[in-house]
Amino acid sequence: MYWFSLRRALCLSVVLVSVFEISLAAVLAIDYGADWTKASLMKPGLPFDVLLNKDSKRKIQSSVAWKRDDRLFGSDAANLASRFPSDSFSSLKLLQGASHDSPPVSYFTQISTSNVIEGPRSMVSFRQSDGTEWSTEELIAMQLSYIKRLAEDAAGEPVQDVIITVPPYYTQFERDAVADAVEISGLRTLALINDGTAVAVNYAMTRTFSSTPEYHIVYDAGASSTRATLVSFASAEDPKTKTSYTQISVLGVGFDRSTGGTELDRRLREILIDAFIHKHKRDIRKDQRGMAKLWKEAGRIKAILSANTDAIAMVESVAFDIDFKAKVTRAQFEKSCSDLRSRFVQPIHDALSSSGLKLSDVSSVILTGGSSRTPMVQIAVKAAVGEDRIALNVNADEAAVLGAALYGASLSRQFKTKDIRITDTLIHEIQASYFASTPGSRTINSHIFPRGSKYGTKKTLSFNKRKEDFSLWLDYKNEVAAGFPREILEGQISGVTEALANLTERGAVDPVIKATVALSESGFVSIKEAVAYGEIKSSLAGKLKGFFAGVAGEPEGSETGEKEAEEAVLSKDKKEKNDVITIPLPLTTIYSTLAPMSVAEKRTARDSKEVIFSRLRALDNMEASKQLREEAFNTLEGYLYKLRDLLSDGPETPFMKCSKPSERETISRRVAGTSAWLNNEGEAADTSTLFEKRRALESLERPVVHRYKEIEDFPEALNNSQKWNWSTRLFLADARANLTAEASAGIPSKWTAEELDALETALKEHEVWLNDGIEKQKRVKMNEDPAIETKEMRSKAKALELHLQRLVRRKAPKAKKVPKASETDENGEPNRTGGKQSGHDEL
Ligand SMILES: *[C@@H]1O[C@H](CO)[C@@H](O)[C@H](O)[C@H]1NC(C)=O
Ligand SMILES: *[C@@H]1O[C@H](CO)[C@@H](O)[C@H](O)[C@H]1NC(C)=O
Ligand SMILES: *[C@@H]1O[C@H](CO)[C@@H](O)[C@H](O)[C@H]1NC(C)=O
Ligand SMILES: *[C@@H]1O[C@H](CO)[C@@H](O)[C@H](O)[C@H]1NC(C)=O
Ligand SMILES: *[C@@H]1O[C@H](CO)[C@@H](O)[C@H](O)[C@H]1NC(C)=O
Repeated sequence: MYWFSLRRALCLSVVLVSVFEISLAAVLAIDYGADWTKASLMKPGLPFDVLLNKDSKRKIQSSVAWKRDDRLFGSDAANLASRFPSDSFSSLKLLQGASHDSPPVSYFTQISTSNVIEGPRSMVSFRQSDGTEWSTEELIAMQLSYIKRLAEDAAGEPVQDVIITVPPYYTQFERDAVADAVEISGLRTLALINDGTAVAVNYAMTRTFSSTPEYHIVYDAGASSTRATLVSFASAEDPKTKTSYTQISVLGVGFDRSTGGTELDRRLREILIDAFIHKHKRDIRKDQRGMAKLWKEAGRIKAILSANTDAIAMVESVAFDIDFKAKVTRAQFEKSCSDLRSRFVQPIHDALSSSGLKLSDVSSVILTGGSSRTPMVQIAVKAAVGEDRIALNVNADEAAVLGAALYGASLSRQFKTKDIRITDTLIHEIQASYFASTPGSRTINSHIFPRGSKYGTKKTLSFNKRKEDFSLWLDYKNEVAAGFPREILEGQISGVTEALANLTERGAVDPVIKATVALSESGFVSIKEAVAYGEIKSSLAGKLKGFFAGVAGEPEGSETGEKEAEEAVLSKDKKEKNDVITIPLPLTTIYSTLAPMSVAEKRTARDSKEVIFSRLRALDNMEASKQLREEAFNTLEGYLYKLRDLLSDGPETPFMKCSKPSERETISRRVAGTSAWLNNEGEAADTSTLFEKRRALESLERPVVHRYKEIEDFPEALNNSQKWNWSTRLFLADARANLTAEASAGIPSKWTAEELDALETALKEHEVWLNDGIEKQKRVKMNEDPAIETKEMRSKAKALELHLQRLVRRKAPKAKKVPKASETDENGEPNRTGGKQSGHDEL
């Protein structure tokens, strides 16, 4: 039941978080794009910002690649495509949830040089040059785990919870693919958030709104696609707490799945390809490396043409040993993209029409996404909505990830954030289907979640004609995208007959079967539960009424009889007067992503997922141990340099002063030997051997270092010894005088004479030992081992100190038969006999 439990876990975590305070933990937000990934970490005590990569870059190229055994990420990985075309993987987002023979895959193969094959469950996998195969989800998971590690380095603790952005049009299949990759990466999905909504959260963060809604369109021209999200912002008051909050509601969405920066790059590369073929009469399309180089060059030229009217493409040895050079003008580029202009704008019109609003209702169009910087796109959008409506007031790259992080923070409730509440809505209509109860009859569809249904809602379907087990399917009403199936899942409801019999026996009249269907906050649809439901009429009248009602019911088999599934009713059931009994029914959910999966297929999917886990873990462990070895190698190498420096420094250094010539000779020989070893066998040595070599050298240097440290520490240790020597002497003199005085006055004393004698003996032993040590130490040379160790000095002084403190802290004995007058001391403060030892507290 792997698939099932994953989905359950998703919904559960969202519920848990909103109900309980969870322990303080960092929340990671990831905006995983086709070209670039941005991440942000929310951790109490850390500044709220975008997570930086190793090179302090604010965005990370969404790529993973192998260079022999080395796995690389980010731009290092992307750049490798021109050398190892089938070992570098980019633009993987285009393939999320797509079956291997769907249009997104054929598009992908046009732009990518990696080797696409059919993977498990008819999805996409890749074959590397060495034959290793990876599924899309695995490769994406590696990138997510890379980000997880960056976040953990920044947080200084394990990071688990992630909130991840998805395009609003993502279907259940694509959302599943995202959640699967997150799970494989070792992270836990707190929630998915539609990217336009995330930008809206970011926008609302620093702004205030009135109770009259204002409307904005978040226009996001990304790499893979373009989308427009029409959002209303308003201030509202919580009826319970009377505090005000910002309400963000998504009212309409428009999108174009295949118009974005990647397509612009592709068109630009076509220009370069044509130029190459025209000039050199060779078909560069057949050269994988050449195509990868041109792809990279196209991206560069696109950026130049955003600010200039022409650019020179230049690639050394692009293919066939030819250095390629060509001039590309912006006009030329724009001409090749002329059909895209309207496609870049259409999502805005679609968002408007799906919300029922007019452009004049919209205050601004907020531009985000990398492609919104392309002049052609900006001009097209300006022409469509009017220049004065264009808003460049959010960070085009980072608004989504920062908004997602804020949303994640509000979910986890451990951060003080502005109270922002989100209502997101469904784009692809979902229907519930089932076979009519009469055998061999037709399918009945219930329009359960129409377009615009709010995320985070449930609906309950009631079936009053079902007497036996049946299945309920959740499907998309219309085709969601070319190559995607409509069927989402099948819920098999069993135990119906028994449960109905039970209810009837217990006096329920006309029991029914109810199934609850939920649309989660993350946009997943699922059947939450199925129950048999019966009301027990308590009075006789009720029973009779029920009886007649039953008789007078719909005639069996008639057309209207098939209207048994009442129109979906929201779960807020009216208060029931009668006694209600519900019996939960066994519910098996089958997720048939592309074809219905058998139990065996599901098991295979789960097992293969476990294989993936161990494959990736093994890879991580291998890299970790490799890294450890590298560290050991570098440390040893560095240590050798340090020793060489020490040996060659002038005679005044502590190392030279504190070492004997013979020792330096030994160290010098060992350094030379180890260096030679490191440059030969060392290259292949394992971590523990490298450690061993370093330990051997350290054991030679250690006595020298020790001498130096001892010389350095001696004065303070001596000072300390003398301090306790001195204090004990003072105390003894004083205490003995008091003892004598008290004895003659007949007052009890704190100490006995024996106790003071014992302390004196200890003091004398200490003095003798110390004096002896000091005398010997005077004759010791700097490059000889010390005669008296500071460690021992401290421990002896400590022993004396404790002995002294024991006596000093002693409470004065109670004066039993003392004259009344003595109860008041000279300060006139009565009864304070215990305060006498205070004079020694500063010891
Ligand atoms: C009905 O269900 C209840 C609870 O599941 C059970 O205790 C009871 O024995 C059942 N009754 C019948 C008649 O099956
Ligand atoms: C010894 O201790 C005294 C008092 O604590 C301090 O003034 C003096 O500098 C110390 N001398 C050394 C060598 O630490
Ligand atoms: C000795 O007696 C005097 C006077 O009572 C007191 O101040 C002092 O602390 C005593 N000394 C010791 C070591 O207890
Ligand atoms: C310890 O203290 C006594 C009294 O001040 C002094 O005579 C003696 O020299 C000291 N001994 C050492 C080793 O410092
Ligand atoms: C001191 O002792 C007297 C007599 O025993 C008693 O009355 C008085 O309450 C005591 N004062 C304090 C502050 O304990």
